[in-house]
Amino acid sequence: MPEQNNTFLEEVSRRRTFAIISHPDAGKTTLTEKLLLYGGAIRLAGTVKARKAQKYATSDWMEIEKQRGISVTSSVLQFEYNGYCINILDTPGHQDFSEDTYRTLVAADSAVMVIDAAKGVEAQTKKLFKVCKMRGIPIFTFVNKLDRAGKDPFELMEEIEKVLGIQSYPINWPIGTDGNFKGVYNRKLAQIEVFGGGDHGRATVESTVGSTEDEIFKELLGDHLYGKLCDDIELLDMAGDEFDIKRVHNGELTPMFFGSAITNFGVEPFLNEFLEMTTLPMPRTTDAGDVYPDNENFSAFIFKIQANMNPAHRDRIAFMRICSGKFQKGMEVNHVQAGKMVKLAQPQQFLAQDRVIVDEAYPGDIIGIFDPGIFNLGDTLCQKPPYFKYQGIPVFPPEHFARVYSADTMKRKQFIKGVSQLSEEGTIQVFKQTDIGREELIIGVVGMLQLEVLEYRLKNEYGVDIRIQNLPYKFIRWADYKDSDISKLYISSDSMIARDKNEDLVVLFVYEWGIQRFVEGNKGIN
Ligand code: G4P
Repeated sequence: MPEQNNTFLEEVSRRRTFAIISHPDAGKTTLTEKLLLYGGAIRLAGTVKARKAQKYATSDWMEIEKQRGISVTSSVLQFEYNGYCINILDTPGHQDFSEDTYRTLVAADSAVMVIDAAKGVEAQTKKLFKVCKMRGIPIFTFVNKLDRAGKDPFELMEEIEKVLGIQSYPINWPIGTDGNFKGVYNRKLAQIEVFGGGDHGRATVESTVGSTEDEIFKELLGDHLYGKLCDDIELLDMAGDEFDIKRVHNGELTPMFFGSAITNFGVEPFLNEFLEMTTLPMPRTTDAGDVYPDNENFSAFIFKIQANMNPAHRDRIAFMRICSGKFQKGMEVNHVQAGKMVKLAQPQQFLAQDRVIVDEAYPGDIIGIFDPGIFNLGDTLCQKPPYFKYQGIPVFPPEHFARVYSADTMKRKQFIKGVSQLSEEGTIQVFKQTDIGREELIIGVVGMLQLEVLEYRLKNEYGVDIRIQNLPYKFIRWADYKDSDISKLYISSDSMIARDKNEDLVVLFVYEWGIQRFVEGNKGIN
């Protein structure tokens, strides 16, 4: 390892970069807001929420975001807490989430999974969890809304194991789960924390902390709750999994926390334990082996490209995750894929709701830089030779498909230009249907909202009105069929053949079982 100055290593080791994943309404926004509150980034909670409530007047995000009061793009928030420098990658929590949501997870070092105590593991949590699991990053579980009656905590543990296939280890245990949430028991310290007032969650909560043996807790909790807690803990210690930090770091065991974001109960104990347990920036795979964050050669990869965040400037921002070395404003780096040196001017960071220009940044940090249209998703930036490339960003299979036309045939050229541009940014995936005597564009998206974004941006940036005809397909598979004659293939009436942008054959299916039928009907094709 090259000799490093201490401040650089200290800066790296205090970075914690994570994403919060959840099904809509589980409380991700509220939890994010409370984490910021503990970090002192905002004095009274409500800032993150304000965007949701459409009060975000100074927003220069897309109009559509304001109209719907949701965050279309994943934003990044940075704040300081207890000596840590925290980067939260916010993933859109709306039903109509997009591929961006998935891609954001590639930039994270760990994930916090928020689960609604009453609803348990929901559909979108499952999808996002899968991506985290694939990456093998640590996943922490925050069971939220404990202030209301919810499922039994043992039942939730079982559900997580059954549905997600990961074992859980409760770090704390809730006291009073039937709408009478009093506090949590910390298993590591064998102490109880009983929550106090706290101004309806608008300010940080005060709590009484002490050993289980302390008489005061018997009094505070009453015989029933105290007795139940003792029984629960005994059962957990006997029947539960062992705690093993290595398994946590490998994403095989999820530390589980209980709390209520809205009242702040359990948020601070969660934050403290989470920051201690989760990993600092880890080495990342490149075509020249693993690159460590303490390598002094600055490197980063682009995981997201966002056009026109500020309509007045028609700018395009490329978001990069710094993986090694120190970033300095105005530095010249090699854009490895293009084989060119570029100057990183106007680097921006996102502190709470503000954009600021950054002078320096460290591994784990996310910065956005002005992109004159030269970057693509997955591109690597490298300060000094020998140059290397980070592993590409995986393409996630779309789940919605539509035929899209330009309403005005005279504007076909702009239409094609816009569609290719948005496809390069990774907003949409483009396919062609060719077996019908003419060529038809098929657009594939992970979330339906992306189609709205497509419509909005084609109109506003390219002056093209489009017609969208939704198709019933929900699944796509790439078929390793090299023959150009596709008439030999068996294709059922509820599936469709198309080509991707590399001319590779894809098959779209309405039902999942159609995939099996296709494989059986076309022996030898994978
Ligand atoms: P999301 O980002 O995951 O979609 O969820 P969000 O934080 O917006 O929370 C969804 C709803 O759940 C909100 O209510 C929020 O106030 C509520 N909520 C969040 N955390 C808790 C909690 O710990 N306990 C309880 N009881 N509720 C919680 P809403 O009615 O949709 O919005 P609002 O009227 O509060 O703005």
